[in-house]
Amino acid sequence: MNSWLVCFNPACRARLGIDEVLYNCPHCGGLLEARYDFTAFEATAMKRTWRERRMDNAPLSQSGVWRYREMFPFLADTGPVVTLREGNTPLLQAPRAAAYGGLANLTFKHQGFNPTGSFKDNGMTAGVAQARKLGMSRVACVSTGNTSASMAAYASAGGLDPYIFIPNGNISYGKLAQALEYGAKTFQVDANFDQILALVRVLAERLGIYLLNSINPFRIEGQKSIVIEMMDQRDWAVPDWIVLPGGNLGNVSAFGKGLREMKALGLIDKLPRLAVVQAAGSSPFYEYMAEKGLTPFRAQEHPETLATAIKIGDPVSWPKAQFEIETTNGVVERATEQEIADAKAVIGKCGIGCEPASAATLAGIRKLTAAGVIAHGEDVVAVLTGNVLKDPDYIYRYHTGQLQAPDGSPIHPAFGNKPVTVPNDADRITELIGS
Ligand code: F0G
Repeated sequence: MNSWLVCFNPACRARLGIDEVLYNCPHCGGLLEARYDFTAFEATAMKRTWRERRMDNAPLSQSGVWRYREMFPFLADTGPVVTLREGNTPLLQAPRAAAYGGLANLTFKHQGFNPTGSFKDNGMTAGVAQARKLGMSRVACVSTGNTSASMAAYASAGGLDPYIFIPNGNISYGKLAQALEYGAKTFQVDANFDQILALVRVLAERLGIYLLNSINPFRIEGQKSIVIEMMDQRDWAVPDWIVLPGGNLGNVSAFGKGLREMKALGLIDKLPRLAVVQAAGSSPFYEYMAEKGLTPFRAQEHPETLATAIKIGDPVSWPKAQFEIETTNGVVERATEQEIADAKAVIGKCGIGCEPASAATLAGIRKLTAAGVIAHGEDVVAVLTGNVLKDPDYIYRYHTGQLQAPDGSPIHPAFGNKPVTVPNDADRITELIGS
């Protein structure tokens, strides 16, 4: 056997078959992760193969996920893979954002360039491949919007039926629209993300539907490709920091695992530090880590944030996230609604743009440099997780001074850019623009 599942709980570590339909350890309930026999892996040869694939027109070589498939060899053959040419997302320099964040230089890795506009595509192509390998015909997820958009697209492209469960009225229209357009059966539930996850677990079990939330270990495997591609694009030079937003904490778990494996395989020579940023109104992991594990993990019952993508009070992957933060000597920060909104407008003004949750990165960086945790000259990559068009309503409200925090307090648009209504009159418009 070249691949297997293992329980993440250090007190258990049960070993399980790679093709078992499991989301948690049957012995202790712990999280699961995929493991591989990497003895034949040769770093220098692999780096060359991955570069060569960039010039190859085969669909799997063109995918910024499957190009790196030797890092997650859970498929005996690639027949079940559905690719929409995910990954291939750029590294973008952003001097204005760097200055705002208190840095000399800042690079964004923009996952919003993915086929459905978020980083979820990196993991979903892997999760859907496993679903097809297992012969499942139906897949389901609960989502704050991006997972559902991604799952709908990949499942439909692969001939599976997608079933989506979302918190009623609490996801952006851009994301809901994608789910409908990609043909998912969509259920809007009057409950929050955490409650719906419990519901979907029951339904998946009862109806034999394959669950594709980020507790699914194969999604985490696909999401590792974000940091693998990042290192490849940087010619394997490791940054000092990788900064990302945290919601359900699947992505930081994937980044940490990918980085540790790259180091063990000799692809990189050190680990970067990971910094996770949560929205202040939805920050159970921040609270927990601030107490240094002295108190048990406490879920937040009523998480609140306008960054609906990360409005999660009971993140399932927190034990993995804690391990990866501690292993990389990382940190957890939180940002207020005002801080996220202004950081988002700054990223927009760089000509880059992102959705609200993604902007938590720059808001967090600004705080971490001010506190002296990140130094001005350090090499920082921030991961923008979603596309600017995911949530246009938020943008319009911000720039026109109508955005309000969940508690009703106004958000002051420090970087507001209000549209101007003008008469059809060249003289008047000339006067307004100025000569
Ligand atoms: N950024 C965006 C744009 C997201 O959609 C999410 C999560 C995150 C950050 C947080 O990532 O959960 O791995 O810590 N969205 C999920 C969803 C929960 O359902 O689309 P995480």
